[in-house]
Amino acid sequence: MHRDRIRLPALLDKVVSAEAAAAYIRDGMTVGMSGFTRAGEAKAVPMALAERAKTEPMKITLITGASLGNDLDKQMAEAHLLSRRIPFQSDPALRREINDGEVMFVDQHLSETVEMLRTHQLGPVDVAVIEAVAITEQGGIIPTTSVGNSASFAILAEKVIVEINLSQPLLLEGLHDIYIPTRRPVRHPIPVVAPENRVGLPFIPVDPSKIVAIVVTQKLDSSSTVLPPDQETRDIAGHLTELLKHEVKAGRLTTTLQPLQAGIGTIANAVMHGLIDSPFHNLTMYSEVLQDSTFDLFDAGKLDFASGSSITLSKAKYQAVLPDFARYKPKLVLRPQEISNHPEVIRRLGVIAVNTALEFDLYGNVNSTHVGGTMMMNGIGGSGDFARNAYLSVFVTKSVAKGGAISSVVPMVSHVDHTEHDVDILVTEQGLADLRGLAPRERARLVIANCVHPAYREPLADYVERATARGGHTPHLIEEALGWHARLRETGSMQAG
Ligand code: COA
Repeated sequence: MHRDRIRLPALLDKVVSAEAAAAYIRDGMTVGMSGFTRAGEAKAVPMALAERAKTEPMKITLITGASLGNDLDKQMAEAHLLSRRIPFQSDPALRREINDGEVMFVDQHLSETVEMLRTHQLGPVDVAVIEAVAITEQGGIIPTTSVGNSASFAILAEKVIVEINLSQPLLLEGLHDIYIPTRRPVRHPIPVVAPENRVGLPFIPVDPSKIVAIVVTQKLDSSSTVLPPDQETRDIAGHLTELLKHEVKAGRLTTTLQPLQAGIGTIANAVMHGLIDSPFHNLTMYSEVLQDSTFDLFDAGKLDFASGSSITLSKAKYQAVLPDFARYKPKLVLRPQEISNHPEVIRRLGVIAVNTALEFDLYGNVNSTHVGGTMMMNGIGGSGDFARNAYLSVFVTKSVAKGGAISSVVPMVSHVDHTEHDVDILVTEQGLADLRGLAPRERARLVIANCVHPAYREPLADYVERATARGGHTPHLIEEALGWHARLRETGSMQAG
């Protein structure tokens, strides 16, 4: 039955139940699982593990590409299976355990995890669990809707479990480009010089004798949770489009722009969607997660090619794309996340990076991860890989959150993910601040004039005025700098009075 999926006959007798495969994973192990932003995650083995952990207490270190779908992080967290989680998550139940200190979460730049595994700064990986559409005649693993860290997990792990997912179409074969960098310090340049370059293999090369178990599954990926664009995200997209038009006029960009990256979530997706109504054309993406907006841009005839590490779609978009996938496939490639997010390639291609802030401050420092400076939301993901190395590093957010109780523009961010040195452009629905070439005092004036919600403009201007009177290259009233956050904690709102 699975012969078109398991093409190396010697592996056919490795097919076992999810419970039997999960038995290879024992208390204290480090496990590398496929899965990147709810796409292509191993499904049956983690479920079986979570079930087992309910009656047989055990703990593992779980490393993935990024977040998992199908409530797997929730199930594993609630079964108290996770002692350590690396490098990204976005699940409310797991988030709670992280913030309670039950799970030790290592929030890492997504390009770095496998570099650390390869050099034994993390790991070793005892077992890799990888979702695949098929295994080739030589034992190569063909991933599904994400590559993430799967290739290096399989290559570095002592044992490999493969989940063949029959509901993932065989058409995905040929979509992936598996390139593993050579060892440092004598590493060769990564030969990606354009988003469409294919530089590796269409499967993960592994020694088939390491494949100890194969589980056959049917479960679909979860749909993405992004919300459709609203007026505010449309305004954000409009401001950014105006800036890009200005860059073209100034001769710094052409109307095909430069490869685009869009971060996860509703806002970045909506911003990309906004390019449909722009004068730009023949666009390319060198990004990480390909969301609905990528396919909207293809359909609008605006996008020529998209390189990413995963495809995560809403239910409606998935149903529209799947029957037509053969048409999209020549315009797509999925790469390991260390390549999709590699500083060398991002810098070489001159990527225009658009990521989302929870909050940013007067001087351009950005917090994308910690609510109120302490509570983990999701993680930095790939935003730092891109922001530091981009041609143009853009951060977007709505100017207020929680019905206006929170200003997303604050005197000082309560946690720093992206320093002022990595941030070129800030955008809210109110407007855009182009920080390039500006000193901190100039930045503050522009941010207040262009990005802050009217309800917070005056108090922020007052803060800057009093801070500037005290002097300093980056003026602050240290005793007040986090006062808005303190007020929010005490009164439920950043607004005074
Ligand atoms: N303080 C507290 N909560 C805030 C906030 C702030 N300053 N700003 C936003 N929020 C809340 C929103 O109210 C919303 O809460 P809800 O889920 O209860 O409705 C939640 O954060 C998400 O905000 P939303 O406005 O819907 O934006 P989003 O879906 O685009 O997500 C991030 C925004 C920052 C959470 C998300 O982009 C992220 O995790 N980024 C970090 C990782 C990353 O950038 N990866 C990019 C490379 S792929």
